[in-house]
Amino acid sequence: MLDRLDLGRLPRHVAIIMDGNGRWATARKLPRVEGHRAGIRAVRQTVETAARLGLPVVTLYAFSTENWKRPRHEVLTLMGLLKEYINRELDTFLRHDLRFLPIGRIDQLDPSVQRELQRAVDATAACRGPLVQIALNYSGRQELTEVLRTAARQVVAGELDPAVLDETWIEAHLATGGQPDPDLLIRTSGEQRISNFLLWQVAYSEIYFTPVLWPDFDQEEFLKALLAFQQRERRFGGLPETAGVFTPPEGQLGTA
Ligand code: IPE
Ligand code: IPE
Ligand code: MG
Repeated sequence: MLDRLDLGRLPRHVAIIMDGNGRWATARKLPRVEGHRAGIRAVRQTVETAARLGLPVVTLYAFSTENWKRPRHEVLTLMGLLKEYINRELDTFLRHDLRFLPIGRIDQLDPSVQRELQRAVDATAACRGPLVQIALNYSGRQELTEVLRTAARQVVAGELDPAVLDETWIEAHLATGGQPDPDLLIRTSGEQRISNFLLWQVAYSEIYFTPVLWPDFDQEEFLKALLAFQQRERRFGGLPETAGVFTPPEGQLGTA
C-alpha cells in the first residue's frame, strides 16, 4: 500500500477523532476501559507511521470537554493511561525527533497529569520532526470563545483596532496558531460527526469516516485513509481548472 502512496502529496496536517474504544471492549465482553487501554496501541502505530512518513502535524482528539460527563472511574482511567503513555513513549518521541504538544484546557486537568504533559513538552521542545498534538479537555467552541475574549480585552485596552481583526488574526490566536489547517480529518467507529473538534480549522478538511473501531486502527488503516485522501479533488470553492485564479478585490464582490 505504501508503494501506491504519492509521498509528494501527503497531507500537511492530519487530525484524528479516535472513537470506538468503548464499543471495541463491549463487543469482547470487557469493561470499557479495556478499550481505552487497547486504543493506546493504535496511538503508538499512528504516531510511528506519521513519523516514518514525515507528516508535519498530527492532531489526536483524546478527551473532549464533554467527556467529563462519563463515569468518574472511566475518566480517571483515561487520565492514568495518558500519564502511562507519555512515560512509556517519551523515548520514541525523542528517537523520531517528534515534538509533543497538548491543546485544550490543560490548566483544568489534575496537577499530576499537567506535570507529565509539561515534562513531555519540555523534553521534546527542540525536536524538529513531526508535531504530535494531543487534544485534551478540548472544545472547538471553547477555543473560539477564548479567542473572542482575548480580542475583546485587547480592544477595550486600546491594544487592538477592530479593523485589524481578520481571519489571519483569529488563526494566529487559536491553539493551533501558525500550523496548517488539517488537510485530512479521520474519524473512526462509524460515527459521522465533528463532536466539537477543531471547528474553525476543519473548514476545508477532507473528511474520512471509517467503521473501524479505534483499537483496530493500525498502519494499514492509516495508509488506506491517506490513499483515499489522495483520490479526493479539492476545489476550495473554485473549479478544478480555475481554482485560485481569480480573487475579487474586497468590497467589490459580484460587481460586473
Ligand atoms: C473514544 O472512544 C475515546 C474517548 C472519547 C476518550 P469512546 O470511549 O468514545 O468509545 P465509544 O464511542 O463509546 O465506543
Ligand atoms: C469524541 O468522541 C471525542 C474523542 C474522541 C476524544 P465521543 O465519543 O466523545 O463523541 P460523541 O459523544 O459520540 O459525539
Ligand atoms: Mg465515542
